[in-house]
Amino acid sequence: MAPTTRVCMALAALLVAALVAPAAGHVTINPKKAPTEGYLVFKMRLPHDCGDATVGTSNLTVTLPEGVVAVKQEQVAGWKAIHSMRAIDPPIVSGSSTYTETMDTATWVGFLPDGMYREFGLSVKLLPQKNGTVMYFKASQDCHGGFPPRNWDMIPAPGDNSRLKSPAPAVTIIEGYED
Ligand SMILES: *[C@@H]1O[C@H](CO)[C@@H](O)[C@H](O)[C@H]1NC(C)=O
Ligand SMILES: *[C@@H]1O[C@H](CO)[C@@H](O)[C@H](O)[C@H]1NC(C)=O
Repeated sequence: MAPTTRVCMALAALLVAALVAPAAGHVTINPKKAPTEGYLVFKMRLPHDCGDATVGTSNLTVTLPEGVVAVKQEQVAGWKAIHSMRAIDPPIVSGSSTYTETMDTATWVGFLPDGMYREFGLSVKLLPQKNGTVMYFKASQDCHGGFPPRNWDMIPAPGDNSRLKSPAPAVTIIEGYED
């Protein structure tokens, strides 16, 4: 084998490793399935490194999808929880409550060193959804030390099962699903 071929193969192997490795480090939501309605708790899992062992994540922001109200952020030790609201117009009546606004973004600000992971909970009231609906909880991750942020916001085209580089955390609604 010519030395250049060997170098090319080594580079190709590195490239494949680089492309495959981050899959384990995606920001995800758990559980990934939910019943059509009710009070649920989801955990946003953040195992993705910022790019340098001495640098870590400074904050995680989640944008809540349509169809969830009465959102509460988990109090995570060492992290400050902040949020923004958006109006619901026209208001939504569900049970004995009328919802005129809901949480738009949930942010936790703190420090997560590279090489560690953390979970951030969201308690939500899920308004009635159709079976098979996929709800996306888009997330963004900011880093300390001027390292670039990462947006977890890619949504697959219908029928496309290819691996996305930075997929939005997704929950599929399944009628009768019990966690
Ligand atoms: C709900 O949707 C899933 C797939 O999207 C399907 O397999 C299942 O049969 C559906 N259930 C009902 C009760 O319609
Ligand atoms: C998130 O972190 C970045 C950089 O560390 C900072 O500039 C930004 O203001 C933070 N966002 C929030 C909502 O705290």
